[in-house]
Amino acid sequence: MAKPVQIEVWNPNGKYRVISTKSMPGTRWINLLIEQDCRLEICTEKKTILSVEDILALIGDRCDGVIGQLTEDWGETLFSALSRAGGKAFSNMAVGYNNVDVEAANKYGVAVGNTPGVLTETTAELAASLSLAAARRIVEADEFMRAGKYEGWLPHLFVGNLLKGQTVGVIGAGRIGSAYARMMIEGFKMNLIYYDLYQATRLEKFVTAYGQFLKASGEQPVTWKRAASMEEVLREADVISLHPILDKTTYHLVNKERLAMMKKEAILVNCSRGPVIDEVALVEHLRENPMFRVGLDVFEDEPYMKPGLADMKNAVVVPHIASASKWTREGMATLAALNVLGKIKGYPVWGNPNSVDAFLNENSQPPAACPSIVNSKTLGLPVSKL
Ligand SMILES: NC(=O)c1ccc[n+]([C@@H]2O[C@H](COP(=O)([O-])OP(=O)(O)OC[C@H]3O[C@@H](n4cnc5c(N)ncnc54)[C@H](O)[C@@H]3O)[C@@H](O)[C@H]2O)c1
Repeated sequence: MAKPVQIEVWNPNGKYRVISTKSMPGTRWINLLIEQDCRLEICTEKKTILSVEDILALIGDRCDGVIGQLTEDWGETLFSALSRAGGKAFSNMAVGYNNVDVEAANKYGVAVGNTPGVLTETTAELAASLSLAAARRIVEADEFMRAGKYEGWLPHLFVGNLLKGQTVGVIGAGRIGSAYARMMIEGFKMNLIYYDLYQATRLEKFVTAYGQFLKASGEQPVTWKRAASMEEVLREADVISLHPILDKTTYHLVNKERLAMMKKEAILVNCSRGPVIDEVALVEHLRENPMFRVGLDVFEDEPYMKPGLADMKNAVVVPHIASASKWTREGMATLAALNVLGKIKGYPVWGNPNSVDAFLNENSQPPAACPSIVNSKTLGLPVSKL
């Protein structure tokens, strides 16, 4: 028997019962739900990560939809319980959904929403921040300063890497990877090498045009190359940022052998998902190559780091904050709520989940559509004509 879980209730007499497993930033998402006759229950339990049993208790006997988090294990047990409770809608408050067993959701006819687009630039900006922090040894230098060790300017003090004219490597040049590439190319005039299963045509066109612009201004043009293999990126790039989805093909994509292919003074950044890097191999590599530096937002066994990582001066580590800007987090909450609300109301699915601005304008009502449902085709959901 599942234990009761603490909740806060909004609009107690609402017709549709919607659960949010966490409090989320902003109030627009709450208002949008309660204005549309939802009774909203927000879990207020203090523990950071809810167990499957906790979520079962939240779902209870009757539930129309759930907004959940990437730290939760959404599989057969939860989707069957949600379906039994009459629910047909779930949304992750995240773009990645490797915590969701979509096949299990399909089996029970539950729509699975995610929140693309709204976090692209924010996440890319953190990847750029980590690239700079690692290249210029910002965290080490900050610690040194605060420890009162600074005795005056020295030629060798915290010498790092120049980015201008170097090569940035992107693995997974989708929405975030492409946005990151643009920042590094525009900001630091880096050349691009990328690897993706698909051609990043818009990114290639941008770099070509920007290179022509620089040339016309009498500056060194930037260049791009689509690598035939990921190894080519690892060998050639000076800064490498990982942006693929996490699935079977990308698990431990960066392992001991591939780390050994990288330049000794390369920078590696990961804002995708922790298991894309074999973290044990990474710790060993960092130990053996003090000039190799990493910037990590995600970890293999979150919230833990593999033994030794915390001691590595050549690692900058932050606690999975890549999407943590106010605008983005409020937008993610809105999109997740609208995915659930839209399915409950029988709305169609938005035609282009990469273009979700219409849902984020606080001064107008959002379109009558679900912003992004990842299994919409399998479930045969209609597509919006708006
Ligand atoms: N750290 C964070 O807080 C945070 C925030 C947002 C997104 N993310 C992660 O970033 C991922 C990417 O988000 P996005 O919006 O750019 O998604 P996206 O689907 O636009 O891009 C992913 C890209 O990875 C490519 N890819 C897939 N398998 C590959 C492989 N084996 N090798 C190389 N490329 C491969 C795809 O073709 C695609 O272009 C998400 O799935 C999520 O896990 C993390």
